[in-house]
Amino acid sequence: MSDYQKAIEKRRTFAIISHPDAGKTTLTEKLLLYGGAILSAGSVKGKKTNKHAVSDWMEIEKQRGISVTSSVMQFQYEGCCINILDTPGHQDFSEDTYRTLMAADSAVMVIDASKGVETQTKKLFKVCLLRHIPVFTFINKMDRAARDPFELLEHIESELGIATYAMNWPIGSGKDFKGVYERDYKRVLAFQGGDHGQREVDSVNGDLNDLKIRNLLGDDFHAQLCEEIELLDGASTEFDQNAVSCGALSPVFFGSALTNFGVEPFLEHFLKMTTSPLPRNSSAGEISPFDEAFTAFIFKIQANMNKAHRDRIAFMRIVSGHFEKGMEVYHMQGGRKIKLAQPQQFMADNREIVEEAYAGDVIGVFDPGIFSIGDTLCNTSKPISFDPIPTFAPEHFARIQQIDTMKRKQFIKGITQIAQEGAIQVFQELNLGMEEIIVGGVGVLQFDVLKQRLKSEYNVDIKLDILPYQCVRWIENEGLDPNLLNLTSDSKRVKDLKGRNLIIFANNWGIKWAAEQNKELILAEVGTIK
Ligand code: G4P
Repeated sequence: MSDYQKAIEKRRTFAIISHPDAGKTTLTEKLLLYGGAILSAGSVKGKKTNKHAVSDWMEIEKQRGISVTSSVMQFQYEGCCINILDTPGHQDFSEDTYRTLMAADSAVMVIDASKGVETQTKKLFKVCLLRHIPVFTFINKMDRAARDPFELLEHIESELGIATYAMNWPIGSGKDFKGVYERDYKRVLAFQGGDHGQREVDSVNGDLNDLKIRNLLGDDFHAQLCEEIELLDGASTEFDQNAVSCGALSPVFFGSALTNFGVEPFLEHFLKMTTSPLPRNSSAGEISPFDEAFTAFIFKIQANMNKAHRDRIAFMRIVSGHFEKGMEVYHMQGGRKIKLAQPQQFMADNREIVEEAYAGDVIGVFDPGIFSIGDTLCNTSKPISFDPIPTFAPEHFARIQQIDTMKRKQFIKGITQIAQEGAIQVFQELNLGMEEIIVGGVGVLQFDVLKQRLKSEYNVDIKLDILPYQCVRWIENEGLDPNLLNLTSDSKRVKDLKGRNLIIFANNWGIKWAAEQNKELILAEVGTIK
C-alpha cells in the first residue's frame, strides 16, 4: 500500500448525534482527552454556549470566537486520524445539523440511559438511514439511575427500527456502576479512579470467573452479571460486521462519559468497526477516496460575523485526492478555476492553516460569496458534480415582509444570499411573487438569525409572523398542476427558489388527507434536485 493510500485508510470521519443533554459534548470532550488533543476535561469550547438560553445569534457567535472552532475536530489515536464533525443542537439546531451528516461516514448516537431515544435523535437517525451509514450507539449516564439494559435495547429497536448488538454489558448502574463486560474478549473491565472524569480512567481486567473480579464486584453483582450474559448470549443474534457497515445493525456500548467509564473501550472498538472514508456518487459515477484527482463538496456555509468583511466560511468534505495549500481547483458550479484562500482546519479549540489534507478530511475556506451548499470542487482535468445535498423538511414557518418597501433590492438580495448559504429555506405562494415570502427552518432560532442578519448585513428591517404550519412535502410528480389538487383548506401550495412545487401542511392529518384524496400524488419528505 502506498503512503497516499495509507493516509486515507487511517482516516475516520464521523458525527456524534443526540438529543440535547444526552452527553454529546461530554463524550466529544472525553474522546479528545483520550486522543491526547486536550490535557484535561472541561476545555472544549462551546460547551456552555451550546446551552445559551438567549436566542441572540450575534452574542452566541461573539462568545464562541468565530464559532467555527467546534465545526470539526481532528486528532490522532492509535494510528487513526479522526475527524469529529459537530452537529449543532440545542438552540442551534438547523439544517446544518442534518447536512453535517452528509459529510460524515458514520455516526455515534448518544442516548441517555434514563430517557432512551428522544425526538432529536430520531430525526437525526432518519438522515443516517437515508445514507445507510453505520450507526454506533453509546448509552450514556450509566452512573445515574438507568433503565434496564435489556429494555433499552428493545426500545432502540422498536423506536428506530434498527437491530442492535450489545458489544459490552453494564455491571450495575447509578452509584453501583462498576464496569462493563466485553463480550468479544469475554472479559470484565472493572473501572477505578478517573479523577471524577478529569483524567483517563483505569480498569482491572479479568475473566468472568476470575476470583479477583468476583471479589471486586461482590457476589450479588457477579451472579447477576453471569445470569444476564447467559440470557444475552442465548437471545441475541450473531454479530455481523457487514450489517454494521450498511447501517442495518447498531453496535451498542454502555458507559458514562462524565466519569470516563467505558469511553476508551468504546473508542477502540468503534475505530475498528467503523469505516475509512466512503466513496460518493457523482455525475461520473462513484468517486473512490483513493482516486488521485482532488474532489470535494461544500456541505456547510457559515457567515462570518466580522461586519467589515462580509465573507463567509465554506466547509468542504474532501472526497478524493490530496489537498495542498495554495492549490488551484475547479469550481464546477461557478465554471472557473479558483485558489482556495486560507484553508483552515480545526483542532480542539485551535484553528490552524492547513498545509495538506486528504480524502475524509474537512477544511474551511474563506468564501467571498461564490459557493452554495452542495457545490463541487475538483481537478480541472476531471470535471464532475457530486449528487446534490438534499433539502430537509422545515418544521417551523414564518411569513416575512419588509418594513421599508424602498429597500426592495437589498431585501431580495439578502434573502437570496442567506437562503443560498442554507441558513433558511424560502417559499413563495403559488401565483404570488416575492411580495410575500414564507421562510422555513428546522429550528426556530433560524428566524432570529435571519432577522438580525438582514438588519446588520443588508440594513433591512422585516416583520416576521410565525405561521401555524408544521410540515412540508415536496411534490415529486413531474408536470402535475398543484392547483388541481384536492387539499384541506389549511394547506398551502408553494414553490421553492429552485422552482420545485411543495405543499405546506398544518399537521400530519393534512398530509394524510392529501394522499387519500389525490391517489396519483407522490410526496417526499426530503427534497432532491432533479
Ligand atoms: P449535550 O452536548 O448532549 O447537550 O450534553 P452535555 O455533554 O452538555 O451534557 C449534559 C449534562 O449531562 C451535563 O450536565 C453533563 O455534565 C451531564 N452528563 C454528561 N454525561 C454524563 C454522564 O455520563 N453521567 C452523568 N451523571 N452526567 C452526564 P450539566 O449539569 O447540565 O452541565 P455541567 O454543569 O456539568 O456542564
